[in-house]
Amino acid sequence: MVLVAALAGVLCGSSFAAAPGSGGSVSASEQTCRACHSIDTTKVGPSFRAIAERYRGDSDAVAKLKKSMLEGSSGKWNTGAQMPPNAISAADAERFAGWILGVK
Ligand code: HEC
Repeated sequence: MVLVAALAGVLCGSSFAAAPGSGGSVSASEQTCRACHSIDTTKVGPSFRAIAERYRGDSDAVAKLKKSMLEGSSGKWNTGAQMPPNAISAADAERFAGWILGVK
């Protein structure tokens, strides 16, 4: 498990930093997300690609994802886990949401 998490961290290492318009490093909050998410494998939470696919075409997607990140989420993805509220700013949540929705 630890190895898997470490690997995913390496593989996804520069992804957030490469997000368009990211304007600098994302630091600690980004590390937290990676404990539970990766780009294309389900970990504790759904993969970012699966999230992008589910919300594609939803004009409220950014608002919905932002709310989930800030307030926490459970029961939507049937992972058997829940996401606690994340200690990130609304601006960061919006940026993450935009980035996740752009994952192809
Ligand atoms: C403790 C583990 C954990 C952490 C840390 C975590 N998540 Fe999650 N995340 C989850 C789980 C579990 C779900 C599925 C929740 C559900 O079923 O409703 C989820 C769902 C999501 C969703 C989809 C929400 C929806 O409404 O469909 C997004 C987007 C997301 N996470 C982004 C993030 C970002 C960005 C971070 C870092 C700021 C983060 N998560 C940190 C576990 C986590």
